Amino acid sequence: MSQTIGELLRRAVCDLKCGGTAEPQAAAQVLLADLLDLPRLSLFLETQRVLSTPQCDAYAARIRRRLQGEPVQYIIGTQEFWSLSFAVNTSVLIPRPETELLVEHGVAHARQWCSRHAAVHVLDVGTGSGNIAISLAHAVPQSRVWGVDISWDALQVARSNAQYHAMADRIRWIQGDLSVPIRETMPQVALCTANLPYVTAAEWEQLPRDIKAYEPALALCGGEDGLDPIRRFVILAPEVLASGGMVILEVGWQQAKTVMEVLWQRDAFVDVGVERDLAGIERVVWARKR
Ligand SMILES: C[S@@+](CC[C@H](N)C(=O)[O-])C[C@H]1O[C@@H](n2cnc3c(N)ncnc32)[C@H](O)[C@@H]1O
Repeated sequence: MSQTIGELLRRAVCDLKCGGTAEPQAAAQVLLADLLDLPRLSLFLETQRVLSTPQCDAYAARIRRRLQGEPVQYIIGTQEFWSLSFAVNTSVLIPRPETELLVEHGVAHARQWCSRHAAVHVLDVGTGSGNIAISLAHAVPQSRVWGVDISWDALQVARSNAQYHAMADRIRWIQGDLSVPIRETMPQVALCTANLPYVTAAEWEQLPRDIKAYEPALALCGGEDGLDPIRRFVILAPEVLASGGMVILEVGWQQAKTVMEVLWQRDAFVDVGVERDLAGIERVVWARKR
């Protein structure tokens, strides 16, 4: 049955609220705006527009998926990060806004490096959708980037995002464990970024259904205290870093102190530092190779 945009939105918000969905207004609007290929604001200028029956049915199907817990980003297939649009599916973590802090630090270091060297080589470990690797390549045109992920399916998403942003010739995607597959084949890099899984076993149990049932466990679970992949990577990172190069890591709440200690214990690093995100959580930890 045909309905107007206004009627559809009111009904969807009501259904999502009754279903206990977080942020029902935003979800109802984003799902409809994306379906109609309109900016979200335009929905409010066109509340009386009548949609066809196939359009109404397609919207109802999207609302049903959201009611079952599927994140809006997987339903529409995109997430914005660093002001760029990234395709996402259930093979990759949905990029989070706090990860932009890691990119900010990476861009600052890469630009500084470029002022003293002709090129800057960057390695992004646990690249997922390629959001960090592609944002860095976009912001630093002199950079040459390698993105590694253990998941082949994630790398397919990263590869297509690089093509979409016309970065395919500047980024190489490699499947493997941390920096192991590239340590003998690539030049030493000026910058290593890594947003590796860091959710603890106890936190995993408490995660909301929308995350646990849809986002890949491989992207989230970091072992008992969440730090298994990060600890292993801190051991490997000095091999691939050039002298003066930086490793920049995203960490979970209450993990920064331990990760900084692990970095200090590696004789290879100096200038260990940390920065809080907008929520006040110590989120990004870095160190410079001697
Ligand atoms: C937290 S997600 C981060 C994804 C993306 N970089 C971001 O910031 O949204 C972690 C990623 O690390 C990958 N990963 C997990 N263990 C890995 C390992 N041992 N070696 C390489 N990648 C790994 C996962 O497949 C996942 O894509």
